[in-house]
Amino acid sequence: MVLLKYDNAFRKVDYMKAKLILNKDFPVSEIDNRIYGSFIEHLGRAVYHGIYEPTHPTADDMGFRKDVLEMVKQLNVPIVRYPGGNFVSGYNWEDGTGPKEKRPRRTELAWHVIETNEVGIDEFQEWAKRANTEVMQAVNLGTRGSDEARNLLEYCNFPKGTYYSDMRRANGFEEPFDIKVWCLGNEMDGPWQIGAKTAEEYGRIACETAKVMKELDPSIELVACGSSNLFMPTFGKWEATVLEHTYDYVDYISLHNYYGNRDNDTKTYLGCSLDMDEFIKSVVAICDYVKAIKKSDKTINLSFDEWNVWFHSNEADKKLERWQIAPHQLEDIYNFEDALVVGCLLITLLKNSDRVKMACLAQLVNVIAPIMTENGGSAWAQTIFYPYLHASNFGRGVALAPVVKCDTYSTEKKKDIPYVETIGIMNEEKKELTVFAVNRSLEEGIDLEIDLRDFANAKLIEHIVLEHDDMKAVNSAENPNNVVPHNNGVTKISGNAAVATLNKHSWNVIRFQI
Ligand code: AHR
Repeated sequence: MVLLKYDNAFRKVDYMKAKLILNKDFPVSEIDNRIYGSFIEHLGRAVYHGIYEPTHPTADDMGFRKDVLEMVKQLNVPIVRYPGGNFVSGYNWEDGTGPKEKRPRRTELAWHVIETNEVGIDEFQEWAKRANTEVMQAVNLGTRGSDEARNLLEYCNFPKGTYYSDMRRANGFEEPFDIKVWCLGNEMDGPWQIGAKTAEEYGRIACETAKVMKELDPSIELVACGSSNLFMPTFGKWEATVLEHTYDYVDYISLHNYYGNRDNDTKTYLGCSLDMDEFIKSVVAICDYVKAIKKSDKTINLSFDEWNVWFHSNEADKKLERWQIAPHQLEDIYNFEDALVVGCLLITLLKNSDRVKMACLAQLVNVIAPIMTENGGSAWAQTIFYPYLHASNFGRGVALAPVVKCDTYSTEKKKDIPYVETIGIMNEEKKELTVFAVNRSLEEGIDLEIDLRDFANAKLIEHIVLEHDDMKAVNSAENPNNVVPHNNGVTKISGNAAVATLNKHSWNVIRFQI
């Protein structure tokens, strides 16, 4: 339904109406904070010149960039996957331990660069501490197997008095790292993966690796590899076979997917979070199918440990010269419409937070990342930094099942895309209710009525908006504040409802004290 309204300059503007009903007795789930995780791979400039640059003016005693650490802390990232990605499938973790001058330089075959190994597991643990985050550690099931995985686990988590735990102590790390979450390889179905496997092969090695790892440290949680993305020809069968082998030993199955506006069809692109939703629901169905045939009372949850927009840098990367150290690789420069898509994807993860317990925005610094750096220069925030910042900081608590009434639109490629993507999060500890909402319309504003009957006396804290006239607007080192949020959004409370004005193509964060 379209209403007529006038803007501040008395121009006539069209506004649609939509409604969000929130009921505190109908939660989706308590949100696992690790849904706001991220990812650092030894790839491009993520590690070198990203988190680590000993010659940078802000470098700390270990060579970590403090300007980057500050931005990571702002994002409040609970967990960071490391060290890959495709990188991990050819990685010898021992190369990155001990005196730096003795560490080998290696040809890195996943990304065709030289890996200097100046940063390894010890340094990354220390970086994670300084960034107030935890590590989600991946083991190499490409060129290596269960032996390497148990040795690495012993190095990291065993207190002392054994070969690998004493190796860690000799390297200067007396206390165990106590890493709780471990990924059993990476994208093992992908033909590009070093040591790619069939579902049967991977299922067996993942099962045996999981067994020895849990024998050594039963407190850890394990993630088995799902398909590399929804479009893999083996998708579905892969998950079922892998889980049939590993069900009793693993806790999560992984999902990876990247999105992009390849055809410059923004209306369709803004609807891609519907694909993510379908993907998640399919994997949940497969997990529960295996649960049923195994007659198990255990539920496998989802770790969406690679998700983002990735397509801007594809062509440039094809032209990269091989065997460089830390080249500009996968450096997508995100525009405003990408930020709206990231907002929709975050809301979709929250809508599925009953089963998606962990998720990683891939990645964190320089490589398809919200944070960018100049070598020796500044660190700046991309457009996608902002929805991630807001969701991670204000989206903690209980996700409420969103009952949404709004119009939909269709494009040639996609049917029934709702104009509004939204969810409410209740934080009882802080006594806050936060509504995240994206208006996908490129033409019209939307008055979103938020039914607050369950939240008597709710008071507006603020209404933050990320908007821009130009869907392709970007930030850069020279102009880092081109696309930034403001908090002049208009939300009016009257009685048991609030009406939030969602300007056309905008990301909104409406915060109430309850
Ligand atoms: O995040 C970039 C790459 O995408 C990762 O290395 C790989 O796992 C995925 O294909």
